[in-house]
Amino acid sequence: MTHELTAAGLASASGKTTESAVEDTVGWWRDAVIYQVYVRSFADSDGDGIGDLRGVRSRLPHLARLGVDAVWLTPFYASPQADGGYDVADYRAVDPVFGDLADADDLVRAAHALGLRVIVDVVPNHTSDRHPWFREALAAGPASPSRARYHFRPGRGADGCEPPNDWESVFGGPAWTRTPDGDWYLHLFAPQQPDLNWEHPEVAEEFASVLRFWLDLGVDGFRIDVAHGMVKAPGLPDIGRGAQATLIGTEPLPFFDQDGVHEIHRSWRLLLDSYEGPRIGVAEAWAPTSERLALYVRPDELHQAFNFRFLNCPWDAAAMRTVIEESLAATSAVGAPTTWVLSNHDVVRHVTRYGNGDGPRGLARARAAALLMLALPGSAYLYQGEELGLPEVTDLPDEVRRDPAFRRTAGQDGLRDGCRIPLPWSGLEPPFGFGPSGRSWLPQPRGWGSLTVAAQTGNPHSTLELYRAALELRRALPGLGSPDAGPLAWQPAPEGVLLFTRPGFACTLNTRTEPLELPSPGRPVLSSAPVETDGRTVRLPPDSCTWWVL
Ligand code: BGC
Repeated sequence: MTHELTAAGLASASGKTTESAVEDTVGWWRDAVIYQVYVRSFADSDGDGIGDLRGVRSRLPHLARLGVDAVWLTPFYASPQADGGYDVADYRAVDPVFGDLADADDLVRAAHALGLRVIVDVVPNHTSDRHPWFREALAAGPASPSRARYHFRPGRGADGCEPPNDWESVFGGPAWTRTPDGDWYLHLFAPQQPDLNWEHPEVAEEFASVLRFWLDLGVDGFRIDVAHGMVKAPGLPDIGRGAQATLIGTEPLPFFDQDGVHEIHRSWRLLLDSYEGPRIGVAEAWAPTSERLALYVRPDELHQAFNFRFLNCPWDAAAMRTVIEESLAATSAVGAPTTWVLSNHDVVRHVTRYGNGDGPRGLARARAAALLMLALPGSAYLYQGEELGLPEVTDLPDEVRRDPAFRRTAGQDGLRDGCRIPLPWSGLEPPFGFGPSGRSWLPQPRGWGSLTVAAQTGNPHSTLELYRAALELRRALPGLGSPDAGPLAWQPAPEGVLLFTRPGFACTLNTRTEPLELPSPGRPVLSSAPVETDGRTVRLPPDSCTWWVL
């Protein structure tokens, strides 16, 4: 690819040496902006239509220019790809579709040379059904010691033909699959993702070794997949109502958020702390309350946990304020910073969520929500493409969909492909610079020519330039973002409006559909939509967020 650079080339392009340019900051994660790269859809270097590690490396300058602090890479390990790589067959190998270990090593070095830290995914709740342990377990037969690394059980009912309990898979259907020899095995996700038994000592040993492998390669931390699911309630009790479990649910369940998971996270913290760093762990955990979620970030556990309550919050000022207040209170009670996130590879993109059928309104709200998020104290996660204002693609033909839940629920669920469309970089036609061939593993909408990085660069009204300006200001003004810069104070504001101050800084959010006049809180420095102010009063546009210097 013409834009591909070597690590040395990248470094000289940025004016830095090939040495790591990552700053040695003790609490770097406390206010870090971390960009999620869904590797399969970021950039394709070899023309097979699938994003890969070399593709990511070639596009690092975009991330450096955007101004993020770190990159989180979704799984690129050897995998049959039954669930987009969240079904790992070899935790120490790169899947050939994404490159090889040398590419991973090069990518980490090139990112460091640009001052970007690298976080990788680890998937400890389940393996692939092609993992050597699971193959061994299947071959060994019922009651064999190899089966003890997973949850194998005899069935219930006549001839054991009913599943051992009533748990349902997050992806639809029973959470149990029967093997030809009559035993059943547990999979909270797809049948190709058997759940590991974390009571087995070899499981913990193996994952400690896997973490060390990637830490030795130089990664700065891990995003821990299903960090709330590794321990199941003793005896695997029935839930008693047969309802399908959802990953984003908040009700107590016997397979999520069990107290035992915290022992695992404590041991991982000790491991992370044994490396120069700091290297961090971020939990993908769903817990019934903000207080339960905060347990994952106690001082001797993980550094961060995704705050999905913020992501799930509707476009409603009062509801947003409640989520912000409760999130800050819960994490500060354990001395941790809060995280904020609006989108990821599992949910409908927030442009579309907020728009509810109205594209321009959704985009206006998404831009405003981004400024709100980036003004809050703590760490923010961006999902690739949100800096371009990408909407969800809702009209994908069934035959191109890959989400395993789509087929397990007969199309009622499993629509996650719509947020995983390959990124548009440049040009007027698909694949919009995604790769050197005309291919992309999911089709891109033909109308994305105006949304490419190239088309938005230099346009002061574009969403990309809004994100760039916001991240630059966030670095310059500690009152933005840093949880250590001082308190967030809510100021009186009319219904539908949020106004808060931080040291030297104020933020207004107007969630109403009409403009609103207010006494001007200061000097406007950035706004998601044009504000009119005469210095004394301000006319806040509908669905907008504005940053003010006091
Ligand atoms: C990941 C999903 C994945 C699931 C099973 C999730 O939380 O984000 O993409 O399907 O875990 O590994």
